[in-house]
Amino acid sequence: MTEGAASKPILLEGLEQLATFPGTEAPLRAPALGQVEVIKEAYILCEDGKIMAAGQEADMPALAANAEVWDCRGKVAVPGLVDCHTHACFAGDRVEEFALRAAGASYEELHAAGGGILNTVRSTREAGGRTLREKLGEHLSWMRRAGTTTIEAKSGYGLDKETELASLRAIKDAGAIPTWLGAHAVPPEFDDADAYLDFALEEVLPEAAEIAEAADVFLEEGAFDAAQARRYLEASRDAGLELRLHGDQFTEAGAISLAVELGARSVDHLEATGDQGVKTLAASDVVGVLLPACALFLDRPMPPARALVEAGGAVALATDFNPGSSFCESLPLVCSLAATQLKMSPAEALAACTVNASHVLGRADRKGRLAPGYDADILLLDAPDWRYLAYHLGGDVVADTIVGGRRD
Ligand code: NIG
Ligand code: FE
Repeated sequence: MTEGAASKPILLEGLEQLATFPGTEAPLRAPALGQVEVIKEAYILCEDGKIMAAGQEADMPALAANAEVWDCRGKVAVPGLVDCHTHACFAGDRVEEFALRAAGASYEELHAAGGGILNTVRSTREAGGRTLREKLGEHLSWMRRAGTTTIEAKSGYGLDKETELASLRAIKDAGAIPTWLGAHAVPPEFDDADAYLDFALEEVLPEAAEIAEAADVFLEEGAFDAAQARRYLEASRDAGLELRLHGDQFTEAGAISLAVELGARSVDHLEATGDQGVKTLAASDVVGVLLPACALFLDRPMPPARALVEAGGAVALATDFNPGSSFCESLPLVCSLAATQLKMSPAEALAACTVNASHVLGRADRKGRLAPGYDADILLLDAPDWRYLAYHLGGDVVADTIVGGRRD
């Protein structure tokens, strides 16, 4: 835009409802986690990609008079959804493994037999940069169609220098938020996890830290143990990265205490977390990222969401979109699972994939709420009530996704 040129405001008019969370606090914990503010007969006024004003139409400011008007009758507005945990940068698929699992094979067995993550590492390495970018673009477009306006995406299917860095660059260039999952699995050219980490920290970290915002590790039996995870995370932190962990997915192997000690942004999965883990996590500043689509897809126990919320923990929800354990890009479906499986209220689910997910990504000051000063990232639902987001199981609830004041 030419400097000084006046840009035309956009007015979303006639909204049946607008649902958001009051205040600026993040992350939200109970009881604020469930205290959604619903405004009936609402408007939103946007300019230069930001929300200028929002509220009841009866109180609309005069400033709206020269705006371009979008008729939103029959629709409700919620904050654009924020997916804070995805593995969107991969090529190939795992549909054969999916069929084997349906016939009784377990995810861990397939992993131990050289399938699983390493299967996708092979197809991602083979694809080459251009195909990888195309596949990433396709996956991100699926997510936006499902109402997601801010997307984190991890590397972790390259595990060599070239493919890891190409993945991170592709993610950043596509407008998503890159996380270096350099410790996802041990690739076949290394004898053991320590030898692989020697390479990753020496050869890949310096350049990965220039592109990524955070580092992530899969702390699990058969992947990286607590000592290896500590080494990886401490080196990543020293290189300026925020820290995330895949923890307690199948076994409790020390992820929560390590996350708390190192001041990680989040520990994600938690399907195997017991009472002590819930207490420790709830009393900390680390967000528990719940991934119920993954638990469903693998037919695993659901994470102890209710206990975490009741204990005062900060929780977020995400898809974990990936080809093996959660081939699901839909946060509305995740909200349905949160309500039906995790016993979270629709309001708690919405807070978890807006305000709290933005906090995990360090963007809670500008994303996750519909309020003046926040980015104009808005999800319009074709529904009479905002709770259809969780209520309409697998339904086609998304009418429009608006990112930075533009229809996507
Ligand atoms: O979050 N658990 C480790 N990583 C992914 C799965 C990746 C895959 O199966 O390809 C997850 O579930
Ligand atoms: Fe994951």
